[in-house]
Amino acid sequence: MYKLLNFSVHGNHQGNLVALEKGADFPFDIKRVYYIWGTDKNAIRGKHAHRKLEQVIICTSGSCDFILDNGKNKVTVHLDNPAQGLYIKHNIWREFTNFSDDCVVMVLASEHYDETDYIRDYEKFLGEVE
Ligand code: TYD
Repeated sequence: MYKLLNFSVHGNHQGNLVALEKGADFPFDIKRVYYIWGTDKNAIRGKHAHRKLEQVIICTSGSCDFILDNGKNKVTVHLDNPAQGLYIKHNIWREFTNFSDDCVVMVLASEHYDETDYIRDYEKFLGEVE
């Protein structure tokens, strides 16, 4: 349903750095980046699936929970490590919640923004993934 990517960290006494380039480190050409912060702790974001889009989601600060659903099973992934990426392909319903105050979620996406790629209705999602 998902893959956790462990990025190489260039760390020293000054701190840490992760660099992402397509190839061994990264599964697709990045066409879009967006990030989310200042989210109310109990907000539930997402609530959609994508027909084609692939994403790598990184919690660059703080923590949050991703609830992933392929129409048959659900799994919760806790993200709290800037050196890890949650790789999600298409046809996965996602909700994310339990945001820490300092949570910043950065999303690297394989396509430009396209509303027609979204499935925002859960029943419709179940119909499409059957
Ligand atoms: P939405 O995808 O609903 O956010 P989330 O799934 O995190 O709750 O997007 C929220 C708003 O931002 C919506 O009006 C569409 C807009 N938006 C863009 O304009 N470009 C983008 O790349 C994204 C992801 C959202």
